[in-house]
Amino acid sequence: MQDEAWRKRRPSDACIGLAEADDMPTDGLPDAFAPLIEARAQRTACVVAQLGLSLDGRIATETGDAKYINGTDALAHLHRIRALVDAVVVGAGTVRADDPQLTVRHCPGRHPARVVIDPNGTIGARARVWTDDGARLLVFGGAPHLPARVERIPVPRGDIPTPQILSQLARRGLRRLLIEGGADTLSRFLAADAVDYLHLLYGRVIIGSGKVGINLPAAGALANAPRPATRTHIFPDGDLLVSCDFRDR
Ligand SMILES: NC(=O)c1ccc[n+]([C@@H]2O[C@H](COP(=O)([O-])OP(=O)(O)OC[C@H]3O[C@@H](n4cnc5c(N)ncnc54)[C@H](OP(=O)(O)O)[C@@H]3O)[C@@H](O)[C@H]2O)c1
Repeated sequence: MQDEAWRKRRPSDACIGLAEADDMPTDGLPDAFAPLIEARAQRTACVVAQLGLSLDGRIATETGDAKYINGTDALAHLHRIRALVDAVVVGAGTVRADDPQLTVRHCPGRHPARVVIDPNGTIGARARVWTDDGARLLVFGGAPHLPARVERIPVPRGDIPTPQILSQLARRGLRRLLIEGGADTLSRFLAADAVDYLHLLYGRVIIGSGKVGINLPAAGALANAPRPATRTHIFPDGDLLVSCDFRDR
């Protein structure tokens, strides 16, 4: 599943054309932000993925309710990541389920570009991701009759290889990415070895059944399972951040 070309170019790939107008203060942030702040300063590519999880590893109830597994501290953390990246990427399933805004509202900072992977064109023009708020808007595939401000990246129906998504975005100057979900999209990026950092945000709730956040090909033996370096951070309200570093292996 690993894409060697992407792997080789990742760590030192120079980023050209990144926006520099980030206005989010970065003092006093948890250690987990260090790589993102460095990527911004060094203009290097960086892919961060996030999941808000219950203590038993669910990202939504069986009926699809995912609001809000985490408390306000983790929510602010998520918004800070958004403020530091060029683009937030979500799958069509998340837009269908949650109609998210994907903007920066819980901290200072500018809205990143919003990217939806929708090869079957299921997300209509009224989705809140397409709100005209100055953010760049992109769709892989996309429904007919989207607003003209939505930049369309044509793809055939079916699976889009992750390296193709990354290179299409990089070509458009979007190299610091937040893969915000859902499970299917995030798992595809992980399986392709395209995630540098994974932020697991554990809320203080046990859902018991429902959607799990990560689905990867069977590892077989435990020895074959990834064991990323991790750092933990406990937010004042008790939610827990486990930051996994996939670069350092
Ligand atoms: N707790 C959290 O942090 C969090 C974050 C985000 C979402 N969620 C929850 O997660 C659930 C949605 O997750 P999900 O796994 O069902 O959906 P998803 O990952 O948001 O979207 C998956 C869909 O996106 C399209 N897609 C994504 N990558 C693709 C690729 N490389 N090639 C082709 N198509 C691609 C496909 O669209 P088609 O289906 O049209 O083929 C695919 O089925 C919701 O319940 C939402 O509330 C939770």
